[in-house]
Amino acid sequence: MPLFYRISATDRLSPGKGWEIEDTIRFARILHKQGIDVLDVSSGGNDRNEFPSVTIDYQISLAARIKKEIPDILVSAVGSITNGKRGNEIIKTGFADVVFIGRAFLQNQSVVGLFAQHLDSEGKIPLQYTISAK
Ligand SMILES: Cc1cc2nc3c(=O)[nH]c(=O)nc-3n(C[C@H](O)[C@H](O)[C@H](O)COP(=O)(O)O)c2cc1C
Repeated sequence: MPLFYRISATDRLSPGKGWEIEDTIRFARILHKQGIDVLDVSSGGNDRNEFPSVTIDYQISLAARIKKEIPDILVSAVGSITNGKRGNEIIKTGFADVVFIGRAFLQNQSVVGLFAQHLDSEGKIPLQYTISAK
């Protein structure tokens, strides 16, 4: 059974005040040795003092940094990925090995088909996913 470990790679507090990407990299080396299969890289949203820097790709650089430092670990990227092309680019560029999608699925259960369209995939959408509620 694959073991995924979700981590807040930084809690976005001022330097020296909280958990930082360097802490995550040290910890990720330990997790890797312990045998986790995927490091699922997110970031904090737990402290009112965190500095706001939420942009469209606000977490991808965290995943990319870990992947660069520890290439052997499988890394996932999450956070506002709403387009198949962008998701694919993140993987192809080597920023992460996989992307996970949250809210886009809640908005549209056919998001896999939508992403396939963004990528001009010839894969077919199963019939039951082409019927929308009235
Ligand atoms: C305001 C905000 C705060 C978040 N805080 C955390 C957090 O503290 N830890 C975490 O693992 N994910 C957190 N997330 C969730 C992830 O960043 C990411 O959004 C989630 O994987 C869902 O993916 P989606 O952006 O495709 O919906 C937060 C998301 C938002 C919008």
